[in-house]
Amino acid sequence: MAEERRNIMTYETISLDEQERAIVFPDQTLLPGEVKILHLTKQKDIWNAIYLLQVRGAPAIGVAAGFGVYLAALEIETDGYDEFKAKFHEAKEYLNSARPTAVNLSWALNRMEKVVLDNPDKSVAELKELLHRECVAIKDEDVWMCRQIGEYGLTLIKDGDGILTHCNAGQLATSKYGTALAPIHLGRERGMNFRVFTDETRPLLQGARLSAFELQEDGVDTTVICDNMASQVMKNGWVNAVFVGCDRVAANGDACNKIGTSGVAILAKYYGIPFYVLGPTSTIDMSIEKGEDITIEQRPAEEVTEMWYKQRMAPEGVKVYNPAFDFADHELIAGIVTEYGIARPPFNESLKEIFRKKAEAEAAKK
Ligand code: MRU
Repeated sequence: MAEERRNIMTYETISLDEQERAIVFPDQTLLPGEVKILHLTKQKDIWNAIYLLQVRGAPAIGVAAGFGVYLAALEIETDGYDEFKAKFHEAKEYLNSARPTAVNLSWALNRMEKVVLDNPDKSVAELKELLHRECVAIKDEDVWMCRQIGEYGLTLIKDGDGILTHCNAGQLATSKYGTALAPIHLGRERGMNFRVFTDETRPLLQGARLSAFELQEDGVDTTVICDNMASQVMKNGWVNAVFVGCDRVAANGDACNKIGTSGVAILAKYYGIPFYVLGPTSTIDMSIEKGEDITIEQRPAEEVTEMWYKQRMAPEGVKVYNPAFDFADHELIAGIVTEYGIARPPFNESLKEIFRKKAEAEAAKK
């Protein structure tokens, strides 16, 4: 007899199978129709899974890359530090090339490489053990960060509120809870009810397929809308706040997220609805001054013209523009909710303050 499908909230978004030397996750391109758990051991397959969005969402691809590069390290057969370091660097650069926009990918991979660079006196066996600890820590910290973001986010809304979200910045995009959806899942655990509007999020439908799925499975009142309906829903007075995730936040607060986020932010401003960006400090890139400096991933035309349709719906040969991300201008953002608190405008100052708090907390732990 086929096994009964479990609630999607009971699956790990991403995990490491140590025996099998595999990364394990539900293939998000098949959700919500099918829950198929992938076990990937080869670097090429892990790269493809990130590129094809089988695992996706900024924090989740960071965790996947951490586990992935650890698996690559296990395959390096040498006792020499220099050779290990060079081969590890090659494996790291390879995974880093899968997607350019979400900074969590390079953040996690750089963090893993730092373990190697900081420990030239260790044997290769010891380095592998340290790398194991680091990738597990990246995932554990992700759970903690999302919970904290949920707690801070909950202070911005009250029971019964209407919330509009774009793309999927939920549990499926992180190790647990999500970022934009963390307050909603956390509120749910505490018996609160929100009314959530999820933009379907063309062209890859992360809102309709993933956010709506995980919210519904968690028992949240969820309504899917086409992206072009957000204005009407706001005009109807149904939205008290907009919560979105982020892939890279610049030092001035410009917040890059799934394509369409910028439009939602502009609408929210027009209707006087607070627009919040929720994300961990690992998604804030203080080395980038402003949104225009962020590299925007361009995706294949077929995602727009063919995917999800029974037959192609745009003429053969037509030009297609398919940027995967845009950014909400900092002037449109009411707050950036992180694991160390809520940054308010002016973000040039408040984000620095968030990083000061983080440094203090880390120093206190040592
Ligand atoms: O292309 P995707 O599906 O990886 O894009 C994801 C998003 O834009 C999310 O909103 C963002 O990564 C935040 S996830 C907590």
